[in-house]
Amino acid sequence: MTDFRQSSDAASWFAAPAEGPDRSAFNGAFRMYGRTYHQDPAAAFTEMRRHGPVVPVLLEGDVPGWLVLGYRELRYVLSNPTLFVRDSRYWNQWDNIPPDWPLMAYVGYQPSMLFEMGAAHERRAGAVSDALAAADQFELRANCERVAEGLINSFIGSGRADLTAQYANPIPLLVLASMLGLPDSDTRALVGEVATTLNGGPAAMQAYNRVQAIMTGLLELKRRNPGPDLPSRLLAHPAGLSDEELIQDLLLTMTAGSDPTATWISNTLQLMLTDDRFAMTLSGGRRSVGQALNEVLWKEAPGQIAIGRWPIMDTQVGGRLIKAGDLLISGLAAANLDPKVHPDFHQGSAGNHAHMSFGYGAHGCPHPAPEIAEIIAHIAVETLLDRLPDVILAVPPESLEWRSSIQMRSLESLPVEFTPGYQS
Ligand code: HEM
Repeated sequence: MTDFRQSSDAASWFAAPAEGPDRSAFNGAFRMYGRTYHQDPAAAFTEMRRHGPVVPVLLEGDVPGWLVLGYRELRYVLSNPTLFVRDSRYWNQWDNIPPDWPLMAYVGYQPSMLFEMGAAHERRAGAVSDALAAADQFELRANCERVAEGLINSFIGSGRADLTAQYANPIPLLVLASMLGLPDSDTRALVGEVATTLNGGPAAMQAYNRVQAIMTGLLELKRRNPGPDLPSRLLAHPAGLSDEELIQDLLLTMTAGSDPTATWISNTLQLMLTDDRFAMTLSGGRRSVGQALNEVLWKEAPGQIAIGRWPIMDTQVGGRLIKAGDLLISGLAAANLDPKVHPDFHQGSAGNHAHMSFGYGAHGCPHPAPEIAEIIAHIAVETLLDRLPDVILAVPPESLEWRSSIQMRSLESLPVEFTPGYQS
């Protein structure tokens, strides 16, 4: 790994002194953007950690925030949701944020459960958890297999594929959409529109409006004809969610669930394709898929950070004075790599799930979403190995590029080759 303390690149993480009377704490803050950062965030975290468990950072556009890198400090913040709220309207920087700020999708207020607090949040998150928990596991597995097989059939004859675009990315969205009980034509439309909303930019808002229209139609349909699906269970839930709450929380579940699960799949495939310990041939004695999946959660967390939390009063975290309304960024990946946590945590061995990759506390990934993600990811990886037993990377591992996303640690593409096969 590059030693950034000796590299000239290290200087590029230090921003020019920030301007404005309230920003002196951010002089010398670390930049969390740019190619150097995105290609090796773990190296950046190592450098930042020398300055403590909580460090001042600048996001795209030199917007200031505090990155919580320490495992214990992050647990502290995430387990105090009444002091560190999830509602971005508490941010003290709104006057300085342009409407087209590239990270607006992470902070812009939506009336979804994400921004709720206390009992109001429990009511909505509880309903979503109950509806997800009631999903038929057998049907979920069968759907995952059907989706994975269908995608493999679309490229198996060619002997080449990009496993991010053609495989990992579409799987979770297709599987989650099938849990909505939509007619097939609407599922295809919804998947396309949700993918556009996830890409951000001007097209995202129009796509979002079309998604809302599909969801409104879906609720009308399920009210008339309930079925064994998420919307019907939410409509019948004693929490008595309004239509707006239902639409918001169903959409959140789709979007919060698809990108990280897709990234988990592609990062696991990348690990298995590039690390001899997981040699993907039977003769190579491949380690278990579960072990590779868990190692990725520890070492290459799909969601590197979560934006954010906002303290409602001046407070201290990790020895830093944090002003009311300052942005705190959850350093999920950095906390996983914190050398202060028990060394066994870093083994990536099966069984240790104390990582922060699914978040923590009231707004962590709701039960049983992590289990659903695991079912999808496990089946996706295993099905691929079964169908393409001689799959290899089609490019040198060092030429793989990471997406310039502050949140997702995901590859631009994962080109592979294999012996062409037949559709099943
Ligand atoms: C590898 C897959 C996944 C990862 C790494 C992941 C990670 C996370 C994290 C870190 C959070 C907390 C964000 C924060 O603190 O602000 C979160 C929240 C959430 N996740 Fe997941 N997630 C995954 C899969 C899923 C799936 C499959 C679903 C749905 C079926 C889902 C639904 C949600 C929802 C609804 C929230 C918001 C919870 C709230 O604010 O109350 N996630 N997830």
